[in-house]
Amino acid sequence: VTAVRLHHVGIAVPDLAAAARVYREALGLPPGVPEHVERDAVAVLVVPAGGVLLELLQPLDDRGPVARFLARRGPGVHHVAFAVPDVTAALERARAAGVTPIDEAPRPGAHGWRVAFLHPRDLHGVLVELVEDPGA
Ligand code: CO
Repeated sequence: VTAVRLHHVGIAVPDLAAAARVYREALGLPPGVPEHVERDAVAVLVVPAGGVLLELLQPLDDRGPVARFLARRGPGVHHVAFAVPDVTAALERARAAGVTPIDEAPRPGAHGWRVAFLHPRDLHGVLVELVEDPGA
């Protein structure tokens, strides 16, 4: 695991439609179709922003991780995702470096991506998502 690149930035929002509208109107980001990721209790809208993606996340209930983030911190940057060729290998590397995985093994994320999250306390306050991209 040597290659790493920014894949997307996840932004927690209380109202996906309103957030998508202002990002579109103010910044010219393209429209997209939201999907529900039940496992994470979020509605997700992924839109391209140059070479990376923006992922707008709205909680589907008041108990999921994004709902708790919004309650505690308010809307804002929720996580930063990096593309890696092999999430399992990237998890092992992170563990070896003393970073605690939130997911012990890769699991399905938005868009059917294979992902795993790393704990923000070990990464200077940033929740990091690893996204498998065999071409990374
Ligand atoms: Co993400």
